[in-house]
Amino acid sequence: MSDSRIIAITGVTRGLGAALVDFFVKEGHRVCGCGRSSEGVAELNEKHGSSHDFSVVNVARNDDVKNWATRLIKEGKTPDILINNAALINVSATLWKVPEEEFSQLIDVNIKGVYYSIRWFVPAMIERGSGVIVNFSSGWGRSVSPEVAPYCSSKWAIEGLSKALAEEIPQGMAVIPLNPGIIDTDMLRSCFAAGAGNFPKAEEWATRAAPFILNLGPKDNGQSLSVS
Ligand SMILES: NC(=O)c1ccc[n+]([C@@H]2O[C@H](COP(=O)([O-])OP(=O)(O)OC[C@H]3O[C@@H](n4cnc5c(N)ncnc54)[C@H](OP(=O)(O)O)[C@@H]3O)[C@@H](O)[C@H]2O)c1
Repeated sequence: MSDSRIIAITGVTRGLGAALVDFFVKEGHRVCGCGRSSEGVAELNEKHGSSHDFSVVNVARNDDVKNWATRLIKEGKTPDILINNAALINVSATLWKVPEEEFSQLIDVNIKGVYYSIRWFVPAMIERGSGVIVNFSSGWGRSVSPEVAPYCSSKWAIEGLSKALAEEIPQGMAVIPLNPGIIDTDMLRSCFAAGAGNFPKAEEWATRAAPFILNLGPKDNGQSLSVS
């Protein structure tokens, strides 16, 4: 395929990340993904073969992300598109009942994980002079509901982080906070329970979301967008 891109995605062992990987691989793109589950990562390497690259990485750990990004860049896999997808949601609870450890872990993954990924991938993208950074936000990055305050805090932060970064990166590149919509994944089941089944499956969502992401570019820099 002539327009084959290198696409790095965090959190690919389940949910939206896994569905995006399947779509991008089928369309002839080269995918580099990560997740915490070693079984999930081994399955992806087996399924997609050596043109792609799946690694065990905890995005909440600076050194994990540093080692992953440094290796990929050294191997000539500087991403054309970097998708910061990995995230957690808190177990539904009023804010004052959320355990301190759970709150901290969510912030470490949902905010610091995105920062680490940008920290270690983006300088090489800037050096090359091109690239699109897509940070997964949420409807709860632009509105709120009770019992998901930690998650809302993190996604509102992603909107701010992305818009500020959009003012820093050189012309010709783009940073986009992207609300993926509402999709039936493990994460949605954790807050919507059986009601999650009323929403689209990740595979169907990816047929709309992946082409949308492939079309993002400098014209979209700094805009809060949604997959329709
Ligand atoms: N589903 C929705 O309706 C919805 C709506 C709005 C926004 N979003 C956003 O869309 C993104 C994907 O959500 P999803 O529904 O697909 O979630 P999910 O089903 O819970 O999947 C999350 C993925 O992230 C990975 N992950 C979690 N913590 C990680 C860490 N510390 N390091 C590396 N990978 C990690 C998980 O894999 P491991 O367990 O193997 O690490 C898994 O592959 C998130 O940013 C979410 O906030 C989703």
